[in-house]
Amino acid sequence: MQSIGAAIQTLLLAAQDFKLGTLWICDIFHCDKEIYSWLNIKDELVAAVAIGYPNESPYPRPRKLLDKVVKWI
Ligand SMILES: Cc1cc2nc3c(=O)[nH]c(=O)nc-3n(C[C@H](O)[C@H](O)[C@H](O)COP(=O)(O)O)c2cc1C
Repeated sequence: MQSIGAAIQTLLLAAQDFKLGTLWICDIFHCDKEIYSWLNIKDELVAAVAIGYPNESPYPRPRKLLDKVVKWI
């Protein structure tokens, strides 16, 4: 699972380099049967990524300071 997450993050960063917009979707469980059918696969689906040309640029979201979310030991 962690490797899949790392791969998706790398995919999203690469897409951004091409000026593409993405959405990481883990909430695919309500439509996984349809996706299995479209892709003709039987493997477990973990996530989906929507990729497209964005028509808007949302403002940067507020971020917590690094020292509020990371504990160095
Ligand atoms: C592991 C993971 C799963 C996500 N699953 C969904 C999802 O199912 N539906 C959705 O609309 N966004 C999903 N997102 C996108 C987040 O809601 C959010 O838009 C994205 O992380 C960007 O927010 P940020 O700018 O605060 O990082 C997911 C993000 C991550 C990292």
